[in-house]
Amino acid sequence: MILLLMGPPGAGKGTQSKRLEEAYGLVQLSTGDMLRAAVASGSDLGNKAKEIMARGDLVPDDLIIDMIAARIEQADCAKGFILDGFPRTVPQAEALAAMLADKGLNLDHVIELAVDDDAMVKRITGRYTCAKCGKGYHDEFEKPAKDGVCDKCGATEFTRRADDNEGTVRNRLDAYHAQTAPILAYYKDQGLLHDVDGMADIDAVTAQLKGVIGQA
Ligand code: AP5
Repeated sequence: MILLLMGPPGAGKGTQSKRLEEAYGLVQLSTGDMLRAAVASGSDLGNKAKEIMARGDLVPDDLIIDMIAARIEQADCAKGFILDGFPRTVPQAEALAAMLADKGLNLDHVIELAVDDDAMVKRITGRYTCAKCGKGYHDEFEKPAKDGVCDKCGATEFTRRADDNEGTVRNRLDAYHAQTAPILAYYKDQGLLHDVDGMADIDAVTAQLKGVIGQA
């Protein structure tokens, strides 16, 4: 199965992808996570992406398309995957269609997490992750059971993303509406697009997604 989760920064794509990975045995492919790993490693790609990401602009299509094309060739993707943060432009959507067609594959569902922009600033500026296992938390909406201790691995160090400040978030939201939202019509015309209320609480969003996707 191949799923695509769409929605602006903070809509819950990463949070829900992790839950769907476990529920359906799929692999999450987050272009944001891949780019952050490239920045951390100091690779050519990372050096090119670093300043662009810090501003909240989109990284050039050719770099992203090459990165995802290489990723879906890896063996773990054979069991199916969830696209989180890709495609983000019409040329990326067209490149994805060509990549999947070459492999005889299709997108099964494209699901938009519909949310209010203003609420996204609060979600993003309150977000943090475990420095050891990467589990995500939020100052208000998803706290660890014991303050300062990761529920999953017990670590006590946490990190916040460099682009999770209010100014950059506003630019990321603008980029979404200008460059990414047009893809929704592209998928609607193909009869693939579903809407889910991303303003519901996290468990309720997961339940809605499972309702669209069906049984594991
Ligand atoms: P990327 O990492 O993809 O960031 P993003 O799209 O801005 O999305 P986020 O990760 O911020 O949000 P999310 O929807 O995953 O929300 P989350 O689940 O964490 O991209 C970063 C940058 O990389 C881009 O700006 C760009 O420069 C570059 N890039 C990446 N892909 C690219 C591409 N294809 N082309 C070009 N450039 C690219 O949730 C947020 C918080 O809210 C969490 O704390 C969570 O706990 C909480 N939360 C989630 N759901 C709910 C809920 N229902 N109720 C209450 N709280 C909730």
